[in-house]
Amino acid sequence: MHHFALDGGALHAEDVPLTTIAEAVGTPAYVYSAATLRRHARALSDAFAPHAATLGRPVIAFAVKAASNVSILKVLAGCGLGADTVSEGEIRRALAAGVPPERIVFSGVGKSDAELALATSLGLRQINVESAVEMERLAAIAGGAGRVPDVAIRVNPKIGAGGHAKITTGGAGDKFGVPVEEALTLYRRFGRDPRLNLVGLACHIGSQITDLTPLRAAFGVLAAMTRTLRAEGLPVPRLDLGGGLGVAYAGDDPTAPLADYAAMTADTVGGLSVDLTLEPGRLIAANAGVLLSRVIQVTQRGDGRRILVLDAAMNDLLRPALYDAFHDLVAAAPRDGEALPHDVVGPVCETGDTFARDRRLPPVEAGDLVAFTGAGAYGATMASEYNSRPLVPEVLVDGDRWAVVRKRPTYDEMLAREPIADWL
Ligand code: LLP
Repeated sequence: MHHFALDGGALHAEDVPLTTIAEAVGTPAYVYSAATLRRHARALSDAFAPHAATLGRPVIAFAVKAASNVSILKVLAGCGLGADTVSEGEIRRALAAGVPPERIVFSGVGKSDAELALATSLGLRQINVESAVEMERLAAIAGGAGRVPDVAIRVNPKIGAGGHAKITTGGAGDKFGVPVEEALTLYRRFGRDPRLNLVGLACHIGSQITDLTPLRAAFGVLAAMTRTLRAEGLPVPRLDLGGGLGVAYAGDDPTAPLADYAAMTADTVGGLSVDLTLEPGRLIAANAGVLLSRVIQVTQRGDGRRILVLDAAMNDLLRPALYDAFHDLVAAAPRDGEALPHDVVGPVCETGDTFARDRRLPPVEAGDLVAFTGAGAYGATMASEYNSRPLVPEVLVDGDRWAVVRKRPTYDEMLAREPIADWL
């Protein structure tokens, strides 16, 4: 559920007409609904509430890579969410948004020495280590710093899942995590090392997962490993179950109900008395944001193809070009008339800059305002300035209030970032 809806023939974000924002900020621009972010955060914790006796209250560490704007993180921090981070930049964003260090998880397959030292000195909730080499590096850094970080091992359960090969992370051939047997060996090796405090296991097998079967299998692997290690006297107080739950990008997309997800979690790890961490990104943010764009022109080819050229492009919303992802396109003030197939494209000089082919759309004309829905996750965070198009701005709406929370750079600001070598 989200808070973007037609009211009096005009698309609104909560109480604010999108035309108001487009006129003030220009297009393209991302617009987020704070009420939707809060609703999604609450829906997930509500789904787990009936299982509090077996699962406790999971820490929900929002995957910052999905939507890293500090104001968005601040809304979510206000709902009690933590942060799952993968770089110093993301850690700094989470801290700037007021997420307490003990709710920040540091994940990722390639953490630098400086990042490991920072995570150790900040006393983050945990560092999810992804290889034996990284564990050795962290032990040396922590030993030198005289501070003992909480550490989990990210397991590769050889169960990949997700909406596209490029976003599957748990498969045997994927670069992430430590294979099960090696992870057990690593836990035994470092479980009693005074420089590190091993607190548990983690996994994240993919993204845009709409069927719980692979998640159930992966959680089962973590549960079995937990029992094995405990039987050897090693404490395993926590499990980090990652993110990955899919959302509906089109009205009829299948999704796994949150109640089923929570029940499946209780089934698989409920008897273990572990502290849980969840790392949802898309689930919280995708349907909380739209990308606003203006129609530059509509052309019709000799063969009858209608081409809708927008002022948004692949540099603003990369998902269709990178993953063939579907994002619905709606008019901010829909016109009456027959829906006809259109190719929807941006101005960037690549064929990949095509948002949709043969998409049936009601009549649209040059100057019309349109919005891609489901763009709140992995939209603005993956934007670039390709073709020297200034970085797309972000706007946050909350009731009848709204604010620009990431500014569009001016052309002068873009150029000022590039000092010309004084020897040129
Ligand atoms: N935890 C870890 C360790 C992750 O790598 C990810 C996402 C998440 C949590 C959050 O996953 P989510 O709940 O959002 O599925 N750019 C792609 C998605 C890449 C996901 C990468 N990892 C897209 O636009 O579909």
